[in-house]
Amino acid sequence: MAKKILLSGIQPSGKIHLGNYLGTLKNWVDMQSKHSCLYSVVDLHAITGNYDPKKYQEDIFNTVVNLLAIGINPKKSIIFVQSSVKEHTELCWLFNSITPIAELERMTQFKDKASKNKQNINVGLFNYPVLQAADILLYRAEVVPVGEDQLQHLELTNTILRKFNNKFGNTFNEIKPILSKGARIMSLADPASKMSKSLGSKHYIALSDSPEEIKKKIMSAVTDTSESKEMSAGVKNLFTLLELLADKKIYNKYLNEYNNKSLKYSELKSELADVIINLLKPIQEKREYWLQNRKKVNKIILNGNKKARLIAQKNIIDIKQKMGLL
Ligand code: TRP
Repeated sequence: MAKKILLSGIQPSGKIHLGNYLGTLKNWVDMQSKHSCLYSVVDLHAITGNYDPKKYQEDIFNTVVNLLAIGINPKKSIIFVQSSVKEHTELCWLFNSITPIAELERMTQFKDKASKNKQNINVGLFNYPVLQAADILLYRAEVVPVGEDQLQHLELTNTILRKFNNKFGNTFNEIKPILSKGARIMSLADPASKMSKSLGSKHYIALSDSPEEIKKKIMSAVTDTSESKEMSAGVKNLFTLLELLADKKIYNKYLNEYNNKSLKYSELKSELADVIINLLKPIQEKREYWLQNRKKVNKIILNGNKKARLIAQKNIIDIKQKMGLL
């Protein structure tokens, strides 16, 4: 059976944190053996928010380095930069002509971002999900691994492709979102919120954090805030991480201690910090390697861009023909 095409995108924000890794990116790595994968650094999406044009090329580069470091293998997968394939914006425009405004107005991410950044509610931010649909369908991808927050955008992609198929003839297969089993990782300092970079550095562990920084952040993670009987969100978060990353035996040992009230949080945290340090060590070594070999990284990017372009150029011709544009 032919492998299905998988596509996903990551914004070039430079740093990746443990929540991104366990929630989505580890899945990207695992999927490489099952599907024919394309991974895009979506620089055209990220310019709809605030960004620094002077630092942007470096952020894009570092994002690719991070992908290589976690184990995205350029021999198996295509890693490319969205803006280097002009057909993304072209297809976005074509899809604009069949996307109802009302569908975009429903998007919770748009509403959320718009309410947080009232000075910069631009048309691109509104159109963001149409560009995302173009990213996916330009390669006729059918499998899309994302975080939970992207599900609504993927439903919209299916709405757009159904409209296209109805109007212009059967062209695209429905896409299937893949959610990773990696649970939602919460902030260390405010476990009611999801781990995120925008909260500030004590809230997250970056893949590039030193062992000392990791120790410090885990040791000062919020645990119990009240005498409630239920496990607090902070403690739950530490256990989630331990369950995902440590031996089952170790996890069970601490859970038993918690249940019979003999658990010392400092011991749990110290164990967890070690587990995270060990997880990140090989990733950090690879990261160093790629940072020292910038030319190789650039070559990987150019090569990926070229491969992506070839597929995109072929597919857009078919799409334009169906729409009567060729
Ligand atoms: N919007 C996605 C995010 O913020 C990134 C993205 C852009 C994407 N294009 C995509 C994800 C296509 C999957 C498929 O996480």
